[in-house]
Amino acid sequence: MATRAEIPPHLFVVFGATGDLMRRKLLPALAQLGSRGALRQSVVLGVGRSGWDDARFRTWAREALKAAGPKAEALSRWGETCLFFQSVGQGRPEDYRALRARVEALEREFEIPGNRVFYFALPPHAFAPTVEEVGRSGLHRGRGWARLVIEKPFGLDLSSARELNARIHAYFDERQVYRIDHYLGKETVQNLFTFRFTNPIFESVWNRDRIDHVQITVAETIGVEGRRDYFDHVGALRDMVQNHLTQLLTLVAMEPPAAFEPEAIRNEKVKVLRSAVPVRREDAIFGLYERGRIEGAEVPGYGEEIGAPSRTETFVALRLEVANSRWQGVPFYLRTGKRMERPLSQVVVRFRAAPVVLFGPGCRAESNVLVITIQPDEGFDLYFSVKSPGQPIRFTTERLHFRYAEAFGPLPEAYETLLMDILLGDPSLFVRSDEVEEAWRLYAPLLVDRPEVYPYRAGTWGPQEADALLGREGRSWFPA
Ligand SMILES: NC(=O)c1ccc[n+]([C@@H]2O[C@H](COP(=O)([O-])OP(=O)(O)OC[C@H]3O[C@@H](n4cnc5c(N)ncnc54)[C@H](OP(=O)(O)O)[C@@H]3O)[C@@H](O)[C@H]2O)c1
Repeated sequence: MATRAEIPPHLFVVFGATGDLMRRKLLPALAQLGSRGALRQSVVLGVGRSGWDDARFRTWAREALKAAGPKAEALSRWGETCLFFQSVGQGRPEDYRALRARVEALEREFEIPGNRVFYFALPPHAFAPTVEEVGRSGLHRGRGWARLVIEKPFGLDLSSARELNARIHAYFDERQVYRIDHYLGKETVQNLFTFRFTNPIFESVWNRDRIDHVQITVAETIGVEGRRDYFDHVGALRDMVQNHLTQLLTLVAMEPPAAFEPEAIRNEKVKVLRSAVPVRREDAIFGLYERGRIEGAEVPGYGEEIGAPSRTETFVALRLEVANSRWQGVPFYLRTGKRMERPLSQVVVRFRAAPVVLFGPGCRAESNVLVITIQPDEGFDLYFSVKSPGQPIRFTTERLHFRYAEAFGPLPEAYETLLMDILLGDPSLFVRSDEVEEAWRLYAPLLVDRPEVYPYRAGTWGPQEADALLGREGRSWFPA
């Protein structure tokens, strides 16, 4: 694996370069890395069906980078020298031959020794046909290394994920494939590792003897925005739960790897998924938002937003069990939704109550709760009981807290971290083929026999039925 100082010269080819992901995430991340000098001899070739040329692409990029505020000028300067565009029109073999010729010409011009990244910033249904065209045209066989980066969702169920893996493996070895889940690029998510395995006070209690249950929430206030066709076809289970929430689950539940090495880490994550029990229909609640208010503003319901009635779930809450010796009997509650009260990504670990009630009825203490906030306001909170001053004895819950921004200032963007890892050839933070397939296995029952979809008002935390999911076991969602 190369070190940070040794990123080799390469061509970074983005398929779907006219899209939203490129505009909002990839381009700013590439420009940040490029303008900081982190990318040595990096040339970015945007690819799309649109009939754009280099000049049009650069103008579009300049506009996109304006959102970066005062740094926009510097970022755009980077783009003026190393952004190019090649149209593949309708994607005919001759279009891909022309693309290959352009790739080789740029490599000659910039003295790039054939190292190529193919980033698929494409709608998921375009992954398989595009990998086929890349393979047929021989683009993946340069003089240097080739890496394929694939966005999520990877397949729409277990069988389509297997099929896509097979199509990819016809041209790329698994070691060349980087399935991206941008949650894994977040510092706070990676820190779960350090937090769990290097702090003995947590490491020693991270098990069924001490933990009552775990809650994982990823909430958004946005609706479907420009992604209506995609989202209505896919729904929240496939768009969020199978990837982001399941990745968080694996990091919370995994055993310590034998070494801090990519395959050792990914092996442990797969073991969690193999031990997890597929979610039963009665353990899942689906929801669909209706008109409501968020931060004082009226927002339309999902049907109004997409302009048609729909039963696609915009909210999912479910209960999942990991049947191994560390976690047997400890429920993991996963919840995600659009148009919720506020944006929040959080892991809540509720510990078991103290075994003895020393002070009699009327002064029951809450059990300890550890809240790991991934965004916004990244950090940890540990809740514990203290005696309120005076008599009679009363308890109150207090909080120890840590905030990344206070300790370290702003954190790097997840995509910057992940792009660097791709260029360095470090797959630790990417999802392996068996991992993605195991994750689909967990949700197969819900894809075959869809749970009922309950309405919820925009600006809330989802349908009441999601509260009942925990309530039936005497638990409740940690107040967000
Ligand atoms: N947007 C985000 O914030 C975000 C976040 C996380 C993950 N993702 C994932 O990233 C990927 C791209 O997302 P996006 O929001 O950028 O999508 P998008 O804007 O809908 O599409 C990206 C580009 O793909 C091209 N395209 C569309 N249909 C195609 C087809 N059938 N064959 C070939 N090319 C096609 C289009 O460019 P041309 O018309 O020029 O070909 C389009 O501009 C998706 O897999 C998504 O799930 C997106």
